[in-house]
Order: sequence, then structure tokens, then C-alpha cells
Amino acid sequence: MTDQTMINTGEVYDYSVVRKFAIMTVVLGIVGMLVGLLIASQLAWPVMNFDIPWLTFGRLRPLHTNSVIFGFGGCALFATSYYVVQRTCHTRLFSPALAEFTFWGWMLIIVLAVITLPMGYTTSKEYAELEWPIDILITIVWVAYAVVFFGTIAKRRVKHIYVANWFFGAFILTIALLHVVNSAEIPVSLTKSYSAYAGVQDAMVQWWYGHNAVGFFLTAGFLGIMYYFIPKQAGRPVYSYRLSVVHFWALAFTYMWAGPHHLHYTALPDWTQSLGMAFSLILLAPSWGGMINGIMTLSGAWYKLRDDPILKFLIVSVSFYGMSTFEGPMMAIKTVNALSHYTDWTIGHVHSGALGWVAMVSIGAIYALIPKLFNTEIYSKKLIEIHFWIATLGIVLYITAMWIAGIMEGLMWRAVNSDGTLTYSFVESVQAVHPFYIVRFGGGVLFLSGMLIMAYNVFKTVAKGKAVNDAPVPMPAMAAAH
Ligand code: HEM
Ligand code: HEM
Repeated sequence: MTDQTMINTGEVYDYSVVRKFAIMTVVLGIVGMLVGLLIASQLAWPVMNFDIPWLTFGRLRPLHTNSVIFGFGGCALFATSYYVVQRTCHTRLFSPALAEFTFWGWMLIIVLAVITLPMGYTTSKEYAELEWPIDILITIVWVAYAVVFFGTIAKRRVKHIYVANWFFGAFILTIALLHVVNSAEIPVSLTKSYSAYAGVQDAMVQWWYGHNAVGFFLTAGFLGIMYYFIPKQAGRPVYSYRLSVVHFWALAFTYMWAGPHHLHYTALPDWTQSLGMAFSLILLAPSWGGMINGIMTLSGAWYKLRDDPILKFLIVSVSFYGMSTFEGPMMAIKTVNALSHYTDWTIGHVHSGALGWVAMVSIGAIYALIPKLFNTEIYSKKLIEIHFWIATLGIVLYITAMWIAGIMEGLMWRAVNSDGTLTYSFVESVQAVHPFYIVRFGGGVLFLSGMLIMAYNVFKTVAKGKAVNDAPVPMPAMAAAH
């Protein structure tokens, strides 16, 4: 049933803010990955620091993480959550003006990050580096986001709240809580503050935040994307709706306790570390439940994978989700972590999650969204196919290079001679991983090239589309499909 044949409510969906966030997902993806590529090149060829303080690795690394996670990932989440909540609740956004405010507010935050991080202003808390005035701005924008999202849920025309909205909702609420608690700080000037916590408590709060940022920003929100866009693209219902509900509660409960696996063998009490390890191992079950639910949605329709490149992006992303959520619990085991911590293995794990899962699912969703938002067909399906293969090859190069480099580093650092002295000096381990840093750079070049192809395809699609035509909101009883 198309929108045109449905009896509509006289209302139209608000696509304006969705369009803006969708376009900025592509733009900020390119910016963030370009910075990622620059810092990857600095690790391979230090001369790429150019002896310019603003371009040094230490300052650009947080710019990379902030722009890919909060810029690229954040825009993908805003765009999809605003779209999905309207479509599944059969109503227009609660307050389009407030939604517009969240867009401009979020963009201002990104601009401030791009200015302050290279200047060296940082709280030094990972993934929460931005200084206190920006933290306040983030809080204001986030509250507005929550009002729009939950306000839309409240005025829904259907009784049921579709599972994707549960994941988006949990992501919004949890990030608010994490941000406010972890950013408690005492300002000493406009550009400098000190954490409200000290010593080991500070570390614990930071990694309670850090791990749940992974769990709720980089996972729950994107699971919301998975639960809407895979069934939509495959034209089939979710494999098991019951499993999706179990998945939701199990994940929300378990993630909260796993943070201490980032602090193994530190001053954190030993029992706390073991608790974090135990919960990380338990986390495998809900994560795989979700992965199986996503992939099995395609059962009976596997043939669609052959010629739908968007579905390829979505299904491969869920496979990477499964892979990184298997690897994570293994790395959380203390004896394994003794080898992996401080090495490039962690970086490989991060990017199998970040590129394989987060970026691939976002890319798939944005390709699915853009034609709908501009009331047209995609400019080139062939280019999506090319993008898919280049991106997949890029990820494989990136993560295998980091696994080899990481395990090699771990083994070299712990190797001892019979007289108890170290077998290798640190610089020997740096020399050994150098070729793999070059391979990682190559993987990054491929992944970024894919993003540039995407930008071209999106640009051409937008150019031939009509942005003015927001779809009418159908009467729920008539709406067989969202
Ligand atoms: C072209 C693509 C990318 C390249 C070349 C790249 C490169 C890098 C490099 C070189 C680092 C620093 C590694 C180190 O300190 O040894 C890094 C860190 C990181 N990147 Fe990327 N990256 C890319 C894409 C992404 C994306 C899309 C995301 C997230 C959605 C992401 C998330 C992160 C995170 C979270 C870290 C910090 C990891 C940690 O502290 O353990 N990256 N990246
Ligand atoms: C069951 C799920 C997961 C578990 C139990 C887990 C566990 C871990 C462990 C043990 C580490 C290494 C900590 C260290 O030695 O410092 C780690 C690092 C990391 N993981 Fe995961 N992981 C999971 C899933 C994911 C996913 C899906 C993503 C990304 C989308 C991700 C992103 C990260 C990041 C960004 C770091 C680096 C943090 C830092 O040190 O800056 N993880 N994870």
C-alpha cells in the first residue's frame, strides 16, 4: 500500500530536520574519517604532524573520535530516530521547531569541538573531552531531543510502541544520565575545569560512562536502526518480536555493570574488576540474541541479498556487531586483557565495532532514507554496490592489520630472557608494527573513498529529488506498513 492510497490524517511527517541530519551524516563522516586517516598516517609517518601543534596526534585523536562518534554517528541517530518515531507512531514530530533547535545546537557543538580540541582545550576524559561550557550546551540540546522524541511517543496514534523506539528511547535517557554524571566538574576558567571526582573514583565514573557510551550511543541507538531498517528493506517482519523485547531488557540491564573491564589490573578493587569481567561475559548472550534476530529476519528472503546493496550493508553490519560482541567479552577476561590492553588489538576491536557495525549500519540506513526524504529514486544502485565492496575490503584490511600488530606487541612486551631481562626493547616493537600501520592506512583510504562515492551518489539523488514533498501521515487503521 502506498502513502497515496491511504486515507491520511491531513498531517504530514516532518522530514525537514531528518533531511538535514541525514546529509550531515555523510558530511561529518567524511570529515571525521579524514582526520582518522591523518592520525593513521602520523602513526606510520610521524612527519605528518608537520611540527604544527594544532595538527599533532594528541590533539587530533580526540577530534577524530568526537567527530566520528558524535558528528557522524550522532547525526545518523538523530536522523533515523526522528524518522522512525514519526513513521511508527503515525504522527508528526512533537515540536518541529524544537527539533530544528536540536539540529542547529548539535552543529554548534561540533563546530566548537573542531575549534577547541586542536587548540588543546580538553578535560582529558576520553569521549568526554569537551570543556564545561560545551558540556552545558550538550545538556540543553539533549534535553530538547528527549522532549521531541518522547513528546512524539506521547502523541502517537497507535497504542503499541515499536521496539526500535525502545532502543532509541533507552539511548536518549542513558546518554543524558551518563553525560550529566561524568561531566560533573569544577570550572576554573572559561576553558578549564577539574573533575568533581578524584583518583580511582574518577576512573570508575569515567569508564562507567565510557563503556555505556559504547553500549548506548554506539550500540542501543544503532540497534534501533537495525530493528526498523532491516525488516523494512527485507520486506519481512522482525524474526522474533519476543526475542527483541528480551534483547532490549537484557542488554539494558547488563551493559551498566561491565565498565570495570576497562580498568583491569589498576588500583580499582579486584572484586570490582572481576564483577566487570563477569558481566562482560554475560553480555555475549543478549548481544548475540540481537544479532541472530537481525540476521534471521532475512530467513526465507536470503536471495534479496544478491541484488540489494543496501541490505548487504545492513546484514554485514549486524555480522560485525556479532563479531565485535564476541571479541569484547573475550578481551574482558583478565588474562586475555593482560595481553591485549595498551596494544593495537584494542584499536582493531574498536574499529570492527565502529566501522563494521556503526558505520555500515548508518550507511545502509542513510541510503535507504535519502530517496524517501527527497521523493525520488537513488541515483545509482551500482555505486552503492561499489561502495559496499570498497568499504568491506577497507575494514578487513584495517582490523586484520591491527589484530596482528596488537598480538605481536603484547607478546613482544611480555617476552623475557632466561635471566629475567626483557627480550625486546619498546622501540623494536614499534618497528615490528610499522608495516601494519601502513596497511591500516590503506584500509582507511579505501573506507574513506567509499564515503566519497556515497557523497557523490547522495548529491546526485538530492539534485534530482524534490525536498518539499513530505509524506502524509496515514490513519493507523489503514496503515499496514509503516
Ligand atoms: C577512515 C576511517 C577511519 C580511520 C582511518 C581511523 C583511524 C583511527 C586511528 C589512527 C585511531 C588512533 C589509534 C591509536 O591511538 O593507536 C583511531 C581511534 C579511534 N577511532 Fe577511528 N578511524 C576511522 C573511522 C572511525 C569510525 C567511523 C569510528 C566510529 C564510529 C571510529 C572510532 C574511533 C575510536 C572510538 C577511537 C579510539 C579508540 C581507543 O581509544 O581505543 N573511527 N581511529
Ligand atoms: C559484548 C560487547 C562488548 C564487550 C564486552 C566489550 C569489551 C571491551 C573490552 C574488554 C575492551 C578493552 C578494554 C581495555 O583493555 O582497555 C573494549 C574496548 C573498546 N570497545 Fe568494546 N566490547 C563490546 C562491544 C563493543 C562494540 C559493539 C563497540 C563499538 C561499536 C565497542 C567499542 C569499544 C571501544 C571504543 C573501546 C576502546 C575504549 C578505550 O579504551 O578508549 N565495543 N571493549
